[in-house]
Amino acid sequence: MTHARKRVLLLLPCLAAAILLLFSGPLVADSGGDKSRPATARPQDTSQYVGSDACMACHEDVFKKWETTPHYKTTLDTRGGPAKQGCEACHGAGAEHVAGGGDKTKITLFKELRTRQVTEKCQSCHQYGVEHSNFNRTAHSNNDVSCISCHSVHKAREAQFLLVKAQPELCYSCHLDKKAEFNKPFRHRVNEGLVKCTECHNQHGGFLTAQLRATNAQDTTCFKCHVEKAGPFVFEHAPVKTEGCVACHTPHGSTNPRLLKRSQINLLCLECHTLSSDIASPPPAGPAHNQTQKYQACTLCHVTVHGSNHSAVFFK
Ligand code: HEC
Ligand code: HEC
Ligand code: HEC
Ligand code: HEC
Ligand code: HEC
Ligand code: HEC
Ligand code: HEC
Ligand code: HEC
Ligand code: HEC
Ligand code: HEC
Repeated sequence: MTHARKRVLLLLPCLAAAILLLFSGPLVADSGGDKSRPATARPQDTSQYVGSDACMACHEDVFKKWETTPHYKTTLDTRGGPAKQGCEACHGAGAEHVAGGGDKTKITLFKELRTRQVTEKCQSCHQYGVEHSNFNRTAHSNNDVSCISCHSVHKAREAQFLLVKAQPELCYSCHLDKKAEFNKPFRHRVNEGLVKCTECHNQHGGFLTAQLRATNAQDTTCFKCHVEKAGPFVFEHAPVKTEGCVACHTPHGSTNPRLLKRSQINLLCLECHTLSSDIASPPPAGPAHNQTQKYQACTLCHVTVHGSNHSAVFFK
């Protein structure tokens, strides 16, 4: 190894340390001074915790309001120790803040945390179950959206679920383009409150594309409400099971009846089916399906396009 190369190698750890210092910044205050600690780490020393009642002495308004929210329950659950209870579960140990007469540098200020650190705080209690364990892989988490983009601990406008706004306005505040889709003539009545965005999507994340709630074929997403389309059928129409409902439907809204992707049903079917227009074409290929004739309205004869227990060609 050359001398120069060795020097570079020796420098590396110093560089790494410098970078660490840079990025850990003044952002973490709950540890009362140790800035390099991750946001969720808390000192083990329980004497650093004063309990929520102590906070009430100077923050009465905040306390009174907070007392009425579900987080108040944390004061009653002693299993995790004081680091998991009350104000200090989120704002960190408060002894030094109190001793300093309200020294702001000795308490966690959420407005100074990075998005990721805010989320980690909440996840220290809320990373459970299918609903919540995948937030870190969502388009939300990856695009700087944190728990408090949608929830507010102290200033929630919606008491239920501590939301900053109710759906769908909450979602439209960032997904404005979707509002137009749900104003189309044929649509899921999301704006009217009949269906919620979060019935199809998991805003907290999952394994599927578009943060959908169920299988890749959107099966369970849609079957939750359209149970009769689930089958299983003796005669399945292949695309319903392979590509899912979105092979033929636009899920949000459409200018076409039945939320179909095409304005005419025959055009939709003919995207996948090539039918003979030869009038003389014999069975079993079926009739000629002459498209200038009555064969345009496919579902007039093929009535059960989602699958059938009686007919291989979906006549009933
Ligand atoms: C579940 C976590 C959590 C708990 C518990 C909690 N806070 Fe907060 N606190 C926050 C967050 C997050 C913010 C940032 C503003 C927001 O999202 O509402 C905040 C902001 C604040 C602020 C700054 C003023 C403001 O509104 O921005 C004060 C003061 C405060 N909290 C005091 C308290 C006190 C006192 C308690 C206990 C009575 C408490 N907090 C309990 C999470 C929490
Ligand atoms: C002795 C009174 C006192 C007590 C007790 C006290 N605080 Fe404070 N706190 C203050 C004062 C004063 C400020 C405002 C400091 C400033 O604006 O510079 C403050 C500021 C804060 C802020 C930042 C608010 C903002 O607007 O940025 C938070 C968060 C906070 N306190 C949380 C707590 C928590 C949690 C507790 C209990 C562990 C607590 N405080 C106990 C006096 C107190
Ligand atoms: C994109 C907005 C959004 C983000 C980001 C978000 N939530 Fe939610 N959350 C919601 C909505 C909306 C509901 C209510 C769903 C309903 O009405 O069924 C909810 C419900 C909840 C609930 C109560 C219901 C349940 O599933 O237990 C908890 C707890 C919760 N969220 C915690 C979190 C935490 C923790 C984070 C961050 C890791 C987070 N949320 C991030 C929008 C969001
Ligand atoms: C110390 C543990 C703890 C921390 C940290 C914590 N929570 Fe909670 N959270 C709870 C508990 C306990 C409940 C009540 C659950 C219940 O009622 O069954 C709750 C309930 C909720 C609910 C549901 C409210 C409702 O109306 O049902 C939301 C939303 C929520 N928390 C968001 C957050 C957010 C956002 C953060 C981070 C700023 C956070 N929590 C941090 C323990 C915590
Ligand atoms: C604070 C802004 C914000 C809010 C509020 C918000 N989102 Fe998002 N959402 C984003 C960003 C940023 C992305 C990533 C970029 C994109 O796909 O537009 C995203 C992506 C998504 C995606 C696409 C995921 C993918 O993989 O393509 C879905 C689905 C989604 N959000 C649903 C919701 C729902 C449902 C709500 C309401 C409960 C909501 N969002 C509220 C900012 C937000
Ligand atoms: C009836 C179920 C359903 C409802 C309700 C629904 N979505 Fe979707 N959404 C879907 C499906 C399915 C996809 C995937 C479309 C595809 O794969 O072609 C999707 C895709 C998306 C995407 C990512 C792709 C894109 O078009 O940008 C976003 C973002 C999104 N939805 C946001 C929302 C928001 C916001 C709401 C509520 C205002 C909402 N969705 C309500 C089913 C739904
Ligand atoms: C939360 C329940 C719910 C979910 C989930 C849901 N739907 Fe719907 N869907 C409805 C309701 C309710 C209607 C009736 C609409 C109305 O009357 O406004 C409807 C209507 C429809 C229609 C139009 C029916 C007609 O007669 O015009 C189609 C097509 C449709 N949904 C497809 C889907 C697809 C595809 C999915 C999955 C991406 C899905 N739905 C998920 C509740 C749901
Ligand atoms: C191969 C294309 C195709 C697929 C895939 C498909 N549909 Fe349809 N769907 C249609 C057509 C065409 C109509 C209109 C039928 C008519 O007008 O007689 C329709 C109508 C509907 C309707 C309203 C009328 C009724 O039968 O209730 C609903 C609801 C519906 N589909 C839901 C779904 C769901 C849920 C899925 C996924 C499981 C799905 N569709 C998959 C083609 C399809
Ligand atoms: C996304 C592609 C796709 C669309 C759109 C589609 N189909 Fe199919 N369809 C298939 C596939 C794949 C099969 C199975 C063919 C096979 O097994 O050889 C099939 C099978 C059928 C069959 C059973 C006879 C056969 O050849 O097995 C009928 C009848 C049928 N489709 C009618 C329709 C009608 C009517 C529409 C329009 C409402 C339609 N299809 C839309 C892909 C599609
Ligand atoms: C007037 C009634 C009628 C209409 C309308 C109709 N079909 Fe058919 N279709 C039939 C009959 C009859 C058969 C033969 C059934 C058999 O073999 O038992 C058939 C068979 C089929 C088959 C399976 C055999 C083949 O040719 O591959 C497909 C796929 C099919 N039709 C698709 C369509 C599509 C797509 C449309 C709309 C463009 C359509 N049909 C419109 C009556 C109709």
